Amino acid sequence: MEDLKVLIDEQTLQEKIGEVAKEIMKDYEGKDITFICILKGSALFTVDLAKKIKNNVRLEFIRVSSYGEGTVSSGKVTMKLDLQDSIEGEDVIIIEDIIDTGRTLSYLRDYLKDKKPASLKICTLLDKKERREFDIEPDYTAFVIPDKFVVGYGLDDKENYRNLPFVGYFDV
Ligand code: IMP
Ligand code: MG
Repeated sequence: MEDLKVLIDEQTLQEKIGEVAKEIMKDYEGKDITFICILKGSALFTVDLAKKIKNNVRLEFIRVSSYGEGTVSSGKVTMKLDLQDSIEGEDVIIIEDIIDTGRTLSYLRDYLKDKKPASLKICTLLDKKERREFDIEPDYTAFVIPDKFVVGYGLDDKENYRNLPFVGYFDV
């Protein structure tokens, strides 16, 4: 068994999410916000972030897949669970766990723009900036991280480790 190392501990995560929440509250003063949680990886982040925001936050869920079972992007984004309600005229923030190549979000951004939200922004917990292949710049970023395969706090390796309260990586 490889050694699981902590990259971002629970307290650091929660403090930073509090800061992101404050930024969002400042930008959306007096407005309702619609979070689109990108399942499954963003589930924990979406919940913790939403709890720290005082605006009324609506929750929507979408599931796409670009990785399949592997750890290398398959190059194709497929819709696995579509939106259940209209987002027309709403102030929408896409909540993502991690941006790697940017493929998933460039697909989703175009897809969601067609649904005519009043505004559309991107918030990500983690950003592997150096891996970017698509033109995606998140509006809110909690942490920029190095090019390591990370797990925990929603992120998985073959569906495992999602419930860890911290972000870790395997030291190989
Ligand atoms: P992108 O489309 O290349 O930007 O990849 C984004 C998606 O790949 C994320 O939503 C994750 O599901 C997955 N992913 C990318 N890097 C990691 C990682 O280090 N650990 C777990 N999942 C990852
Ligand atoms: Mg994901």
